[in-house]
Amino acid sequence: MVATTKFDFEEFVASKRMLVDAHLAEYLATGTPEVLYESMRYSVLSPGKRIRALLCLAAAQAIDEDAHRVALPCACAIEMIHAMSLIHDDLPALDNDDIRRGKPTNHKVFGEAIALLAGDALLMLAMETIANHIPSSIDKSIVVKVISELARATGAPGMVGGQVDDIAFTGGKLPADKLTMLNSIHLRKTGSLIRFSTWSGATLAGASQEQQNNFAAFGEILGLAFQITDDLLDVTGSAETLGKTPGKDAEANKLTFVAIEGIDKSKAKLVDLQREAETALAKTGVSKQSLIYLESLLQMAINRVS
Ligand code: IPE
Ligand code: IPE
Ligand code: MG
Ligand code: MG
Ligand code: MG
Repeated sequence: MVATTKFDFEEFVASKRMLVDAHLAEYLATGTPEVLYESMRYSVLSPGKRIRALLCLAAAQAIDEDAHRVALPCACAIEMIHAMSLIHDDLPALDNDDIRRGKPTNHKVFGEAIALLAGDALLMLAMETIANHIPSSIDKSIVVKVISELARATGAPGMVGGQVDDIAFTGGKLPADKLTMLNSIHLRKTGSLIRFSTWSGATLAGASQEQQNNFAAFGEILGLAFQITDDLLDVTGSAETLGKTPGKDAEANKLTFVAIEGIDKSKAKLVDLQREAETALAKTGVSKQSLIYLESLLQMAINRVS
């Protein structure tokens, strides 16, 4: 029986964060060169929201109450990829940020060379973690499919491609159709990994093909909403709550929802996306009761202050 109160959701978040953090610490515990592992641990184990891992685990649990155990290595791999994307995103060649998760950015502590290489190593460790730690009860063809989808979500068709277009339209250069390009950037740089999070959780838990598609659609819409919220928080948030420097998007003249549409229209878009995401969730055919944590994570993605 899945519980429904706010307290239960808080308990879900706290307990799953602890589980994910403990496993991440274990996967990153030892290795040489020491400075490389130190740099990897510095970013991965710093206090992130872990929303992608939570989405993966909640999607698994929505299909099968016990499947979060099966999905845990994948949830950790997603957080490794995410940490890599943040390390690289903060580099002077990209967004040139000094603060992340309330601490100096990786390159500020370890230098740009180690920051780049720590990102590279995390990328590979993520793949290795899925290949080696998903329980043997899961069919190998599913594990290969999960690895293949994670590679696509992270690489040129997904996050990396989105980041390339993000920096292409930084500094005032504008595409012919601003809104279409902006949607495409956000769907790739942020939406693709979040889409993978819900899809992989549901898939590892044994979802049908149709359910997999609907969990993927839910994640993609949530991912777009997550990045629009990030754009809004860059304008409305504070360094203390964000753990990163606000105002950087306007300073860099980035193509964001706030820059193109303004605050009110961006907030209205979030209301539409929330409704769309809820529709995708309902189409999974899973009982409302079992979807309760995913519903709450959707609200968290949109209403968060950090
Ligand atoms: C920041 O992601 C980068 C974006 C895609 C907007 P999060 O807001 O999830 O960062 P952490 O993991 O909580 O630090
Ligand atoms: C980050 O987008 C997207 C990825 C890291 C892939 P942003 O550049 O807006 O994220 P923040 O604001 O630095 O966290
Ligand atoms: Mg960026
Ligand atoms: Mg950035
Ligand atoms: Mg941002």
